[in-house]
Amino acid sequence: MTIRSVIIGSGHYLPEKCLTNADLTKIVDTSDEWIVERTGIHQRHIADEGQTTSLLATKAAEAAIKDAGIDATSIDLIVLATATPDYTFPSTATQVQAALGIHGGAAFDVQAVCSGFVYALATADNFIKAGSAKCALVIGAETFSRILDWTDRGTCVLFGDGAGAVVLEAQNGAGSNADRGVLCTHLRSDGRHRDKLYVDGGPSVSMTTGHLRMEGKEVFRHAVTNLAETVEETFRKSGVTPDEIKWFVPHQANRRIIEATAKKLNIDPARVVITVDKHGNTSAASIPLALSVARQDGRIAKGDLVLIEAMGGGFTWGSALIRW
Ligand code: UT7
Repeated sequence: MTIRSVIIGSGHYLPEKCLTNADLTKIVDTSDEWIVERTGIHQRHIADEGQTTSLLATKAAEAAIKDAGIDATSIDLIVLATATPDYTFPSTATQVQAALGIHGGAAFDVQAVCSGFVYALATADNFIKAGSAKCALVIGAETFSRILDWTDRGTCVLFGDGAGAVVLEAQNGAGSNADRGVLCTHLRSDGRHRDKLYVDGGPSVSMTTGHLRMEGKEVFRHAVTNLAETVEETFRKSGVTPDEIKWFVPHQANRRIIEATAKKLNIDPARVVITVDKHGNTSAASIPLALSVARQDGRIAKGDLVLIEAMGGGFTWGSALIRW
């Protein structure tokens, strides 16, 4: 008998305000044509003043809890992935915990930028497998609009705000790939690449929040290689083949990265979930947002084999195989 972390609910939340490519042409020297051709992005959602990361996260969590049909108080672990927390401390996870009326268990943040949700899912899965938690809320939530340099056309057109969440429940499995739940996770990082994607401020360095800086071309180059490597490791260790994947739900940074990675991995393009066109890159929120959207529109069904992967600042990267 093996303990499995089974996804019993999912949900998401996007702020109402929508910024189109046409809107961006009034802010920086760019065009709808350039953004669509290079990234696949048509629009992104932007949080209003007062719409904090914890607020977006709480709304996504409430939707996931409702979908799971459980009482929030049965949650004994909250792992929240974000690079844009409400405050330096306390963690955004504890803010969400309080907003949900949960007073027991543990809540903490995970910081792995765009790979944050994969890291958070792996962390919660290991807590569940170790018997340290029975019901975990895993959230990815960001307000990247707050750390963008709105004069830098190379970055400000790429990102958006939002949140997604899943509820994991400990269930018994047979220990095979036929089990429902998180089947395997693989995490990697390499801090030597810090300068390719970072924020130029922080409490200890500058006592400021700072702005996102990125060498886009370099990140792109590493992304396809690293993502293919982590997914190949997942295939090798699980014995699963690309044709068995029902839904490939990658981090949504750039449509070209997603398509190049899927091609390299021999994954059928019809099995790829894409939301970057509507959401932009929402960092740690992008995968749970895409999972929730694909679950709500009926694509992801109970029993489906779902593969997720992400790469972000650090660099960090990772993948997970889930039977829904
Ligand atoms: O989620 C974390 C990981 N992040 C990513 O995965 C992002 C990875 N990188 C990318 O997605 C792409 O590299 C970008 C979308 C950021 C850029 O696409 P690119 O094809 O690599 O373009 P580039 O940076 O090489 O820029 C090409 C040209 C440059 O002009 P010159 O030097 O060729 O005259 C840029 O100045 O495009 C120009 N450019 C723009 N033009 C219009 C850069 N940004 C813009 C813009 N509008 N917004």
